Amino acid sequence: MTVHAIIGGTGLTQLEGLTITAALNVDTPYGAPSAPLLRGDFAGREVLFVARHGHPHRIPPHQVNYRANLWALKQCGAQAVLAVNAVGGIHRQMGAGHLCVPHQLIDYTFGREQTFFEGILDHVTHVDFSYPYDEPLRQRLIDALRAEQFAHSERGVYACTQGPRLETAAEIDRLERDGCDIVGMTGMPEAALARELELPYACLALVVNPAAGRSSGLISMADIERALGDGIDQIKAVLGRALSAA
Ligand code: HPA
Repeated sequence: MTVHAIIGGTGLTQLEGLTITAALNVDTPYGAPSAPLLRGDFAGREVLFVARHGHPHRIPPHQVNYRANLWALKQCGAQAVLAVNAVGGIHRQMGAGHLCVPHQLIDYTFGREQTFFEGILDHVTHVDFSYPYDEPLRQRLIDALRAEQFAHSERGVYACTQGPRLETAAEIDRLERDGCDIVGMTGMPEAALARELELPYACLALVVNPAAGRSSGLISMADIERALGDGIDQIKAVLGRALSAA
């Protein structure tokens, strides 16, 4: 049976319901992952879990060692990756609490270590990234969302910004003109690195705030934290159902 990795984002630094069988301190050629990898059983399936921002939450999006996280997960036996990401909503439909399984992304980040293919190489490799998310894995998340009857979108374009600051309203207008529906800071280079390692990868995004300029007020951490707290049970339910269908 496929061993799935779950990469937990903001609000999911630990996976309640995971029966832990081992905490793995892994070293990689790229350094240490964000936290020990937890091996265990979730929804009756073997999973590996890593908290993207560390546990406790302490690593900002631009300083996450994405390469070490992906490398360590693969090294420990992960065969597919389900990523959980908190995002801001750009599209009208993407209000706080909405769940989205993006089908595309645009990368606006800069200065991040974004490839395993560098240094002294035998040959240069350009991986195909036309469709950044794995369709069968996406479909499993979608089926789980339908079964749970949670408000969700089955497609969406994820804009990955550099952070850690939130965007200006004009930046969000630009992202909307580019066709983006949701905005987060951690979707890249994670998705591309998974592709380089030939790990099928899909994202379950929880909208935790209207993006900048998309509501009458400012964006507060308190509002984000409230939406995260409210959405976490839904995320766990969707992950559990998606895994048990694997
Ligand atoms: N912008 C970027 N990243 C985010 C946001 C946002 O509004 N909300 C949560 N992560």
